[in-house]
Amino acid sequence: MSELARFAELVRAAKRGVAFTGAGISTESGIPDFRGPQGVWTTETPVYYQDFMADRDARVRAWQRGARMFRRCADARPNDGHLVIAELERRGHITSVITQNIDGIHHDAGSTVVIELHGTNRRSACQHCGKEWPTSAVVERVEKGDEAPDCDACGGPIKTSTVSFGQGMPETEMRLALEAALQADLFVSIGSSLVVEPAASFPRLAKRAGAPLVILNNQETPLDDLADLVIRRNIGETMMALLRSPTKLQSLVAGRWSRFIRPEFGFRFQALAP
Ligand SMILES: NC(=O)c1ccc[n+]([C@@H]2O[C@H](COP(=O)([O-])OP(=O)(O)OC[C@H]3O[C@@H](n4cnc5c(N)ncnc54)[C@H](O)[C@@H]3O)[C@@H](O)[C@H]2O)c1
Ligand SMILES: [Zn+2]
Repeated sequence: MSELARFAELVRAAKRGVAFTGAGISTESGIPDFRGPQGVWTTETPVYYQDFMADRDARVRAWQRGARMFRRCADARPNDGHLVIAELERRGHITSVITQNIDGIHHDAGSTVVIELHGTNRRSACQHCGKEWPTSAVVERVEKGDEAPDCDACGGPIKTSTVSFGQGMPETEMRLALEAALQADLFVSIGSSLVVEPAASFPRLAKRAGAPLVILNNQETPLDDLADLVIRRNIGETMMALLRSPTKLQSLVAGRWSRFIRPEFGFRFQALAP
C-alpha cells in the first residue's frame, strides 16, 4: 500500500484526530519558517523576554521583526494544507488543531478548535497592565516611527501576544493540548521540525497513549523512528492528494470495472473521499 493510501486509511478511521502544525504549514502561504532550508534563524537570533523587558534596544529589534512578520501574516491566505485540515474537521475526522504557529491562519481556513501554543501575533498587550490592542494598530505606530511602543494607560512596554523565548508556556493551552493528545485516535504532525520543547512532547504523549503517529514534513525529524508513518513530501499537494485518495472499495471497483467507468464517475468517486 502506498504511503498516501495508508495515510488516507488512518484518517478515514479517525474520529478524534489531532493535527499538530508548525511553521512548515504556512510556508506555502508565503510565511518563512525558522529551521527549514530558507529559515529565518540562519540570519537572525531571537529576542529573549527578559531582554525585551529590560532593554529598549531589544524592544526596538523585536518590533522591527514583529512588524515585518505581522505584515507578512496579514497578507497571507490559507493554503491547501490549512484548508484540508478544516475540511477534515467538517467531515468528523479531526477534532482539534494544536499549532505552534502565531499567524492565525487556521482560523481563516475555517478550523474551529485551534489551540495556539505559542500565542498569536494578531493581538498585542501591555506587559504591565494587560491592556490589549489589535497588532495592526501597534504596527501602524511602529511604522510611523514609534520604534518601541509603550502603553497609553500606564507607560508599560507593548508586546505581541506571542510566547517569546524565556517566557512560560500558557497554562490553558497546554492543558487543552494535553487533553487532546491523550484522547486522540490519530495524531498527525504537519510541518514541524519537532525540535522545540515542550511542543514536541505532544506527538510522543499521543503515541504513548495509543494514537497512531503520522509525520508529514519535508525534512527529517527526531521523532521519525517513533512514527507509524513518515511522509517526507510537501504539505499542500500531499493534503490535497489525501482528500482525493480513493477508499479501498473505490480502488477495487475502479480496478475491476475501470473500462466501464466514465471519467465523470471517476471524479465523483474522488469527491467522496476520504
Ligand atoms: N507561521 C508562523 O506562525 C511561524 C513562522 C515561523 C516561526 N514560527 C514559530 O517558530 C517556531 C518554529 O518551530 P516549528 O517546528 O513550527 O517550525 P520549524 O521552522 O522549526 O520547522 C518547520 C519544518 O517544516 C518543514 N517545511 C517547511 N515548508 C514545508 C512544506 N511546504 N512541506 C513540508 N514541510 C515543510 C521544514 O523543512 C522544517 O522541518 C514555532 O514555535 C513557531 O511559534 C511561527
Ligand atoms: Zn499598560
